Amino acid sequence: MSPRWHLLLRQCYRECQMPQLTTTENGVAIQGPTATLIYDDWYPALRTSVLQRGKLATAMLLDIPLVLGRRSDGRVFAMRDSCPHRGIPLSFGWFDGERVTCRYHGWEFEPCSGKCALIPSLSSHDHLDATRIFATAFPCEERDGHAWVYVPSPGSGKNAENSDRRKVPELTKFSGRHRTAFLSADLPCNVDHGIIGLMDPAHGPFVHQAWWWRSRASIREKTKRFEPIPEGFRMSAHAPSGNSAPYKLLGVYGQPVETTIDFVLPNRRTEIICCGDKWFSSLTTVTPVTASTCRIDVVAAWNVFYRVPFLTPIAKFFGAKFVRQDQVTMIQQAQGLRHNPSLMLIDDADKPAKWYFALKQSRLDTTSIGALQKHPMDGPVELHWRS
Ligand code: FES
Ligand SMILES: [Fe+2]
Repeated sequence: MSPRWHLLLRQCYRECQMPQLTTTENGVAIQGPTATLIYDDWYPALRTSVLQRGKLATAMLLDIPLVLGRRSDGRVFAMRDSCPHRGIPLSFGWFDGERVTCRYHGWEFEPCSGKCALIPSLSSHDHLDATRIFATAFPCEERDGHAWVYVPSPGSGKNAENSDRRKVPELTKFSGRHRTAFLSADLPCNVDHGIIGLMDPAHGPFVHQAWWWRSRASIREKTKRFEPIPEGFRMSAHAPSGNSAPYKLLGVYGQPVETTIDFVLPNRRTEIICCGDKWFSSLTTVTPVTASTCRIDVVAAWNVFYRVPFLTPIAKFFGAKFVRQDQVTMIQQAQGLRHNPSLMLIDDADKPAKWYFALKQSRLDTTSIGALQKHPMDGPVELHWRS
C-alpha cells in the first residue's frame, strides 16, 4: 500500500475512534453544573458486545455504579456494583455464567433477581435464610446492541411492578434486510445541555461545516411545523433541508423524500427518513452518566444504498466526524459552564429547548406513569429560524 493511502487510512481510523472525554488533556475532570435526573425509565448502559460469557463489565448510569454481564442462557443483567454485605464492588468478584460471587466473603447471587443463593460462612448453627437477602438488581433488556437498564426512583423498592414499566425503547426498522451502525461520545456537560444541544437547529451552519455536509454560507430561512406527541414533540413529516448534501443524495431514487423527527422524554430523538421503499432510521439518546456528565449514543439502520460497497464504514466515518464536531463544541462549552453563567433561550430557534424543559418539569411533577399532567404545546405550531 502506498504511504499516502496508509496515512489516509490511519487518519480515517483515528477519526472513527471517538475519544471518550470528560477530562481535559491534562487529566483534570471537566465538570459543570448538575441536572435533575429523570428516574423510572430505560437508559442504555453499555454495548452488549462487551458482555462476554463468564465476564463482568461495569458502567455508570445516573450516578449509579453498575456491574453487568450475560448469563449462560444469553440473558443480560445489571446489578448495583456493590455487595449488600460490606459494599465491595461485585465486579471484583467472579461470574460463572450463573452466579456472581463476591470476592470478599464469597456470597453468591443470582444476577437477574439479585437473590443471594449462598453464604459460605453459615454453619449448621445458623438460622439465617440467605435467600431473603438481595443485592440490588435492575431490570435489564437487550435491544439494538444496547443493554437498556430500567432505573427506578431512589427508594422506590427494587421490584417496580412489570406492568408499571414503560416499554423498552427500540429503533424502528421497516424491513428485515438492512445495515446498522453505532456511535458514542462522552459529553462533559449535564444531560440537559446534551439534550438541548442535540435538538438545537441554529448551531448547524457553525458547528457542522464540512464540504460533504454544508457550508456556513448555505444558511437560509426555514419554517418547520411541530406537533405535540405523548411526552414529547414531533417535527412533522417534511421534505428535508435542501442545503444538506446527504439528503440531496437521496434524490437519485427519484422519489419524494420525507423526514420525521421526534423527541420523547427522557432523552430520545428518533429520525425517520423515507424515500419510496427506501428508509433510514436513527435513535439518538443522551444519557446521564452522572448528574453533571452525559453520553450520546446513536444507533442507526437503513436500507438506502444497500448495495453500495463499504457504505457502513463510510457512514460510520462521516457520522463520527459529525458527532465529534458536537463533542468538541461541548468540551469548549464546558469550560464556560464551570463558572455557572446565567443562560438564555430565545424564540424560535430555542423553542424546542423550552418545550424540553417544560416537559421535563411536568414529568418530574407527575407521580404516576402515563400521560403528563401538562403538555407545553396546545396543538401544532410553526417555528421559523435561519440555519
Ligand atoms: S462484602 Fe461481599 S460477601 Fe462480604
Ligand atoms: Fe450537532
